[in-house]
Amino acid sequence: MPDRSAAGLVPPHGGTLVDRVLRGDALCAARERVRHLPAVRLDPVRTADLECITTGVFSPLDGFMDRAQYDSVLEHMHLPDGLPWTLPVTLPVPVGLATTLRPGAEVALVGPEGRPLGLMQVREAFSYDPEREARRVFGTCDPAHPGVARLRRQPEVYLAGPVWLLERPPAPFPDLALDPAETRRIFAARGWRHVVGFQTRNPVHRAHEYIQKVALELVDGLFLNPLLGPTKDDDVPAALRVRCYRALLGRYYPEARVLLAAFPAAMRYAGPREAVFHAICRKNYGCSHFIVGRDHAGVGHFYGPHDSQRIFSEFDPHRLGLTPLFFDRAFWCRTCGGMASDRTCPHPEADRLILSGTRVREMLRAGVLPPPEFTRPEVARLLAEGMRTEAEALEPVAGGEEVPGGE
Ligand code: ADX
Repeated sequence: MPDRSAAGLVPPHGGTLVDRVLRGDALCAARERVRHLPAVRLDPVRTADLECITTGVFSPLDGFMDRAQYDSVLEHMHLPDGLPWTLPVTLPVPVGLATTLRPGAEVALVGPEGRPLGLMQVREAFSYDPEREARRVFGTCDPAHPGVARLRRQPEVYLAGPVWLLERPPAPFPDLALDPAETRRIFAARGWRHVVGFQTRNPVHRAHEYIQKVALELVDGLFLNPLLGPTKDDDVPAALRVRCYRALLGRYYPEARVLLAAFPAAMRYAGPREAVFHAICRKNYGCSHFIVGRDHAGVGHFYGPHDSQRIFSEFDPHRLGLTPLFFDRAFWCRTCGGMASDRTCPHPEADRLILSGTRVREMLRAGVLPPPEFTRPEVARLLAEGMRTEAEALEPVAGGEEVPGGE
């Protein structure tokens, strides 16, 4: 079992929850300063990173990575001090901008809407090899991988240094915006010591619900933490996924044992490395346990179904500091007459109701709701409605022209 802090919850990664949100006089002074500083424009991924670093979701990181941290993470999946950390958190900028900045200089970090959201003290700028990063992080250089494609599009130099937050990026779901310090307070107030975290970027289905509830049999509370930061374009929009969760929570979940909150980070689609990263972030929120199911954070056929579980054996459990809970593929089995998994069900594949995401989309597009054994009817209806709205948005406009962005 992981170590406990005074409140009984697991300590944050590295021991201290990072808090770099400026307040009071420090905030006023910084607001005045940024008006005269060179600006670095953040894309949506880095805007999310800035929020995660400064609110402690990425503890112990206090800024965008320098070369030593980056190399150590890429090559050894640990920070230079030996703490497990699997994904680079970097700020790519055009080389022309980087050459104008000296170590020690301050820059304003400007959000996609043009407002200064943060401040960085430049430690260094360094060039990197996107092919090497793709191979190490994603296990492939194939541009069909969304993480590789994103890497190939970004500017050529990384700017490193500690950051501070001046203003929150707009929160699309204000009631779900809880920082790790707040979730820790809520867990403690509810008397939870053992909390299991659940990461998801897809609409909730029965297999999700099953593994969440099996995990909840073992611990005090379930922290439902859907990723609501940037995802690839063809993932189901965050607003629809949140609606699905809300439709289920009051009806099928024990409310006093569940907390729903946004995970504001961007999706990387890095499979195994991202599974460890997701676990560490949830530890910072106060989770002692973390669910890793089938092909966690995977995409297409880039990773094997158990790769994201196997990777955990490469880490010292004490340094990781939380317990991963592994789940095999879960499904409804007609002969069992209930939810089961590859581990518990003795029946042949033909007895099992297994639908791919593509198949579900096809059904919804054809106006057919997936069966309740696969998706709760409340969710199926919302997904069908979402699909109709999406289809209407793509329908040809008068004159037969396609709406921009349509297929
Ligand atoms: S993910 O990219 O966030 O991993 P998704 O939202 O589909 O995608 O999955 C959330 C969690 O549920 C992950 O841990 C994933 O491995 C697990 N999971 C999803 N579907 C299944 C399933 N049918 N059986 C077992 N685990 C699953």
